[in-house]
Amino acid sequence: MASDKRLLIRGGLVVDPSQNLEAQRDVLIEGGKVRALLAPRESARAAASAEIVDAAGCWVVPGLIDLHVHAREPGGESAETLASASKAAAAGGFTTILAMPNTEPALDNPALLELLKAKAERDACVNVLFAAAATVGRKGGRPTDIARLAAAGAKALTDDGRAVADAGLARRVMEWAADCGLVFIEHCEDESLGRGAVAHEGPAALKKGLAMSPWAAETSVVLRDIALAELTGCRLHLAHVSAAQSAAALAWAKERGLAVSGEVTPHHLALCEDDVPGQDANFKVNPPLRGKADRDALIRALKDGAIDAVATDHAPHSPEAKAAGWASAPPGVLGLETAVGVVLTKLVHPGKMSKKRWVESMSAFPAKLLNLKSKGSLKPGMDADAAVIAPAKSWTVPDAFLSKSRNSPFVGARLKGQVRATLVGGRVVHAL
Ligand code: DOR
Repeated sequence: MASDKRLLIRGGLVVDPSQNLEAQRDVLIEGGKVRALLAPRESARAAASAEIVDAAGCWVVPGLIDLHVHAREPGGESAETLASASKAAAAGGFTTILAMPNTEPALDNPALLELLKAKAERDACVNVLFAAAATVGRKGGRPTDIARLAAAGAKALTDDGRAVADAGLARRVMEWAADCGLVFIEHCEDESLGRGAVAHEGPAALKKGLAMSPWAAETSVVLRDIALAELTGCRLHLAHVSAAQSAAALAWAKERGLAVSGEVTPHHLALCEDDVPGQDANFKVNPPLRGKADRDALIRALKDGAIDAVATDHAPHSPEAKAAGWASAPPGVLGLETAVGVVLTKLVHPGKMSKKRWVESMSAFPAKLLNLKSKGSLKPGMDADAAVIAPAKSWTVPDAFLSKSRNSPFVGARLKGQVRATLVGGRVVHAL
């Protein structure tokens, strides 16, 4: 995927927490790698012999890494493909995505993993990594062949879309994952606490008469898994944390020195139960949008580091599926193309999170979690994966996306902060 071209990303403010850097630098790229970061007065010679990517007035950051993407291949190609997900990712400043295994069939065996890796290599314009299922068919009955999946290149294990409900089975998965050096990503939800639920147990859903699931459905599994992480020594990562109590549990696990981390989605940071217009299924998501106090606690936890990452949980669904009405429509919202705009508008511009913390949460930390040694940083020698962002540019989210789907709760929203260009291995894969 790497390009041989010499390129200079010129005139931008480089924000790179991996080297504690926030300064005007020109990024010289050669052979698909970062060659040097040059102070503006040093770059004239390089500029004469390189192709220029204009970053005047922009922030230049290490390529964003999304820990949570539903690319829908195989089985869901009418909603998304590896090719379309990768285009959406590139437009959103993401240079690496971790694809979830809740496909049809589930990604639960090395042969399918090999096929998908080859397909991504051919079709995708960003790096696509795969999480494999933790249990066969994601059915929660017996573990997948974790050692062979690790050997075939799986980057994580998860039954995302549902939790590994049986605690004994979760323990076995985590023991095996620890042996193979894989992260276990848990979708924390005890379904018995919210059977048939389609909304957060709070005043908004009560008023609408919707079946509800309480915060405790999430936090009870968070606490169980923190205990199992301590017992097994497994590297645990909590997907889409949505409740204030779950964020507090994560902070407690960190105080105990456990290798437990968590992610939060842009929609849980930006929206709450009161923001759902009527029963618009483009706001239906699992975990559900919760209360204002939850949203504010998530923002604080992300700022303080109790929550480590922002991940989109990009979950495309066809317009027909979403038109089925609130109760029947599948949960999930798009995220790749709006994440930067939403997080800058809601958190960074209002001063709720620093630029460096933002980049850490969307690039440096995900690289560390997945053990991607040449990513998440613009230090010389690293892969030339980068995003150029126009922080002051305002735009209105259109109702059509590079994703094959349109199920975004942000359609029509006015956002401040736009991705100008994205580079993967020194190749421009998106430019406005
Ligand atoms: O809203 C969601 N959609 N949550 C999940 O856990 C799964 C995802 C999907 O696959 O659509």
